[in-house]
Amino acid sequence: MSARAANGSGLMTGSGYYRKHSTTQHGAAALGLPLIERAAADVPVGAAAGPIVIADFGAAQGGNSLAPMAAAIDALRARRGPLPVCVVHTDLPDNDFATLFQAVETSPESYLRERADVFPLVAGRSLYDRIFAPEQLMLGWTASTLHWLSSAPGPITDHFFVQSSSDQRARAAFADRSRRDWEVFLACRAAELAPGGGIVIVDTAVDERGGFGSEALFGALNEALRSACDSGRLTHHELERMIYPTWFRSVEELSAPFSPIYRSPSGATLQLAEVTPVVMDDPFWAALESDGDTDRYAAAQVGFLRGFLGPSFTAGLDPARADDERDAVLEAVWAAAEQLIAQDPERISPRYQLVVARLKRPGSESEL
Ligand SMILES: C[S@@+](CC[C@H](N)C(=O)[O-])C[C@H]1O[C@@H](n2cnc3c(N)ncnc32)[C@H](O)[C@@H]1O
Repeated sequence: MSARAANGSGLMTGSGYYRKHSTTQHGAAALGLPLIERAAADVPVGAAAGPIVIADFGAAQGGNSLAPMAAAIDALRARRGPLPVCVVHTDLPDNDFATLFQAVETSPESYLRERADVFPLVAGRSLYDRIFAPEQLMLGWTASTLHWLSSAPGPITDHFFVQSSSDQRARAAFADRSRRDWEVFLACRAAELAPGGGIVIVDTAVDERGGFGSEALFGALNEALRSACDSGRLTHHELERMIYPTWFRSVEELSAPFSPIYRSPSGATLQLAEVTPVVMDDPFWAALESDGDTDRYAAAQVGFLRGFLGPSFTAGLDPARADDERDAVLEAVWAAAEQLIAQDPERISPRYQLVVARLKRPGSESEL
C-alpha cells in the first residue's frame, strides 16, 4: 500500500511547511555534525578525476541540509585546498524541491555563501535505488530519513505508528520490511562509494526496551484520530490506512548486516565505523518554561507532527472525499491533538531516542 500523498506534495507537508516546522529535525541533525569530519578524514581527496561528489540523502526542503553540507565541504577542503565540489540533494520525485532550491540559493546559512566552486544538483530518486555511478560518491549524509520504509507493508489496526501498536501481524511485517530496506540501502551505497568514502547517518531509534521517547506525543495524536472515528468523521477503513510508514531501528538491527563487515550481493563491502545511541531533549520545552504558554507549546508540537505526517494521513482518506472535506477532517484532528497536548505538556514532552552512525567503504583489502 502506498503512503504517498494524493496531492503530490511528497511525503513532507509541502509549500515550505516542513522547513518551517522542523526545529526538532534540525536539532537531531546537529548531533551528526562531529561525525562529518571523521568521515572526511578517510576520503581519497586526491583520487577524483573531476569534482568531489557529496550527497544529502532525503533532503526534504533543504533547510536542515545546509549546515551539514557546509561542514562536509569545509572538512574536505581542509585536507586538500579549494577542490570543486558537487552537492547532490536527493529525495523522492514528488518532494518539494522548489523550497529546497530557494533554501540553497537564498538562505544566509547556505553552503554557497563564501564558498566558490560548489555546484548544487538534485536527484529525484528513491534512496532504495542506485543514484550514483560506481565509486562516484565520496561522502554522504542522511538525517531523519532512513526510518522511512520503501512503502508500508499493510494497514495497522490500532495506532498510526506500528511500534506503538499491539497489532502483531503489522509489527512483524514492518520489521521485516525495515530489515530488507536497510540491506537494499547498504547494497546501493556500497556500490556507489569510492574506497575510503563514507556516509554519516542520524536517525530515530529505539532503546533496548523498544522505547523511542515520543510515545506520549504520538499517543495524543492517536487519541485525536480515534475520537474522530468514534464521532463518525473518519471511517474505520480510513483510520487503518492513516499510518506513518516507518520503523525506528535499534542499534542491534542497524548492526545486524555487519558481521563484522557487510558484503553486498555484488561483493562490495562496508564497515559500520561508528554507531552510538543518543538522547535529544524536547526542543520546545525551554520556551514553555520561560513563557508558560501551553497553547503555543502545543501548536509547536502539532506543527512538527503535521510536517511529516500530513501527506501520509491525507493519503489514507477516502479518495471520494472532496478536497475541502479532507482538509476539514484533518484540521479537526490536529486541533483535537493540540488540545490534548496543551492539557498536559509535562506528560507529553518527548525525550527522543536517536542514533548517530558512520558507514565506511574500506580503502583497501587490508582494512577488511
Ligand atoms: C523527516 S524528513 C528529513 C529531511 C531532512 N533530512 C532533515 O534532516 O530535516 C525525511 C525525508 O526523507 C524522504 N524520504 C523518505 N523515503 C525516501 C526514499 N525512499 N528515498 C528518498 N527520500 C526519502 C522524505 O521525502 C523526506 O523528505
